[in-house]
Amino acid sequence: MKLIVRYGTVALAIVATAILVISPFATSFVEQWSRRDVELRSKLVFNSVRNEMSNLLAANATAQIGALFEQLALDERLLAIGFCDSNAVLRHSNKVMPADFSCQQVARSDQESFSTIQSAGRPTVAGSFPIPTDAGPGHLILLHDLTFAQERGAQARGWLMIALAIVALVGAALASLIALFIMRRWLQSVRSAIEEVKNGRRDRDEMVESPGVAGEIQRLIRNLDETRRLIDAAYTDWNPETLRRALASQLPNTEIIVVSNREPYIHNRGPNGILLQTPASGLVAAIEPVMRACGGTWIAHGSGSADREIVDAHDRIRVPPASPTYTLRRVWLSEEERDGYYYGFANEGLWPLCHIAFVRPRFRESDWDQYRAVNARFADAVVKEATRPDPIILVQDYHFALLPKMLRERLPEATIITFWHIPWPNSEVFSICPWKEEIISGLLGSTVLGFHTQFHCNNFIDTVDRFVQSRIDREHASITIGGHETFVRPYPISIEWPPAALAGQKPVRECRKSVRARLGLADDICLGIGIERFDYTKGIIDRMLSVDRLLTIHPEWKKSFVFLQIAAPTRSKLSAYIDLQAEAQALAEQINARHGSEGYKPILLLIEHYEPERVFELFRAADLCVVSSLHDGMNLVAKEFVASRDDECGVLILSSFAGASRELSEALIVNPYDSHAMSETLQRALYMPKVEQQARMQVMRNIVRARNVHRWAGQMLLEAAQLRKRHEIMRMTSQERSSAPAPSRSRIVKLAVTK
Ligand code: F6P
Repeated sequence: MKLIVRYGTVALAIVATAILVISPFATSFVEQWSRRDVELRSKLVFNSVRNEMSNLLAANATAQIGALFEQLALDERLLAIGFCDSNAVLRHSNKVMPADFSCQQVARSDQESFSTIQSAGRPTVAGSFPIPTDAGPGHLILLHDLTFAQERGAQARGWLMIALAIVALVGAALASLIALFIMRRWLQSVRSAIEEVKNGRRDRDEMVESPGVAGEIQRLIRNLDETRRLIDAAYTDWNPETLRRALASQLPNTEIIVVSNREPYIHNRGPNGILLQTPASGLVAAIEPVMRACGGTWIAHGSGSADREIVDAHDRIRVPPASPTYTLRRVWLSEEERDGYYYGFANEGLWPLCHIAFVRPRFRESDWDQYRAVNARFADAVVKEATRPDPIILVQDYHFALLPKMLRERLPEATIITFWHIPWPNSEVFSICPWKEEIISGLLGSTVLGFHTQFHCNNFIDTVDRFVQSRIDREHASITIGGHETFVRPYPISIEWPPAALAGQKPVRECRKSVRARLGLADDICLGIGIERFDYTKGIIDRMLSVDRLLTIHPEWKKSFVFLQIAAPTRSKLSAYIDLQAEAQALAEQINARHGSEGYKPILLLIEHYEPERVFELFRAADLCVVSSLHDGMNLVAKEFVASRDDECGVLILSSFAGASRELSEALIVNPYDSHAMSETLQRALYMPKVEQQARMQVMRNIVRARNVHRWAGQMLLEAAQLRKRHEIMRMTSQERSSAPAPSRSRIVKLAVTK
């Protein structure tokens, strides 16, 4: 009923609007039409009497003219008829000619003409037709009453209103019927949806009460829902505590084992005893805080000269040394193993292969043999450390491409999450690796395989597609080979927030002062900084060239700008690294000779390792930081610089070829190969107003804060929790099916397999 009232009201509104809009047009149309009708009649009357009138006027037959006029006036629409002479005097007229009529009121020309006049208070059309007489041209005047035209207009308006009202009412009735029909269908579907939900709930309630396998499956499904909700809410507030809580609720009693080549703490023997060193490694910077939060075992190569002296009988040591929360298990490698596996296959083969920095990869069979053997040795170590059949194993990086498959064979119930910290090239580039199939199938032993960016995930999937027989599900980004499914996912790595190295830092003003004093620089010098391992992928040469160019094009910066490059020695056995170091040193000297002067060196190149606290002090002292990687999976230096600047100042210049540029788009993004553009970017950074620096820094800090390393680890581990639960549900479902088929089983299977 309400609907009909509503549609009726709408219809009336439409009719009223239509009348308002259309009726003036309709009325005027009818009136015009009536007037033309009258004019036509006037012409007909004139034509019929023209000759007779001429004759009667010539004969001055006044009485006959009067009789003729009275006869013509019998036409009901003809109000009056008269004759005006050449002096505009009404000479003849019928009896009812209105007293107020005068010949001056009407147009009189040598053509017929029509005027609208008021005569006897009525609208009147006066037709004026010329008739020549001996005394000059006179005019026959025919007055037609126009009232009837107005009546016609009013009638037309009335009919129009009635017609529109009928149309609107019929339309409204039809629309109401259609709406009622649609509404009924919709209500039906809502009702059945509610019924379905109720039934579903009832099923589940029944299952909760049901004992044994069905009840267990139900519990798992509810738990799986919770995991999904946690993953979806993974954008806020990740910190050590939320990570710990997420693991406690989603992966209770789980054993976590990390495997990496680089260890988080290196013990070296120095002249004054054992020195503890934290390596310059993005991997370590990311995983260490996660292990501090979660506990577990970290298996890594013991590379320090005093490492063996510190471990227990099982090659273990509790770390961090100051307040231990997890176990570091060291694996010892012979020099031959290190040369083949680490220096050879990993760093002369896979490293240049995956980084497009135009250093030729070297593939030697002997290196490959060592690589395989060391992967197998780490597999032994994992199996030995695992205290349960189903640990979560986090395999790190390109040193262990074969390990996931080895572990899958020996610990089939383990959840293996492999993270590839460097880029994955396109399939064409990867095709040059002689052992590509082995590497791919080794990695596909993982449960989840992570890369920093979607781009690298796509490259990997394409490579698999090209070289290995497998089933690829691009929608779910998974690859199945030999019945085992691996999910390929992007997880952009990050740092902890706030970083441990920030604690205890002096205010920025003091850092600026003390760093400049230590470097022998004036207080007001503008300081640019670059800090990383001395690696050819980092674009160190290119950034020096851009400083050279800046000082050439903008010499005003001489003596007021210094670029400090800290380069930690790395892989120093390899010729590519030896050459890079020599080239960089020579270049720094040339640039300093070209632009330097007494007491001024534009480039300070310090080849040494800096502990994180000192690195952060330098970041805080700098005006700008250059991260100009030629190709990089992520590059955590960029994120560390942002995290170090709690004063929200400083400019980050960031290579578009570093994964970090996908997230930190408020940095000044550069192509490191373009030294001119790089130097102009330096110039722009040096002149950037504080407000702009702050605006950019605030956005970047918010990103790094929210997407911190606890979120990175949390997402991977929750994904693992989800997969474990799904497998468990499927396993139990098939177990239940084989024992006693239950009526709701198909429903359970569906729930279990849909994401
Ligand atoms: O940047 C990629 C990466 O694999 C890091 O994860 C790691 O810190 C570094 O390269 C390896 O360096 P190194 O050979 O000195 O351990």
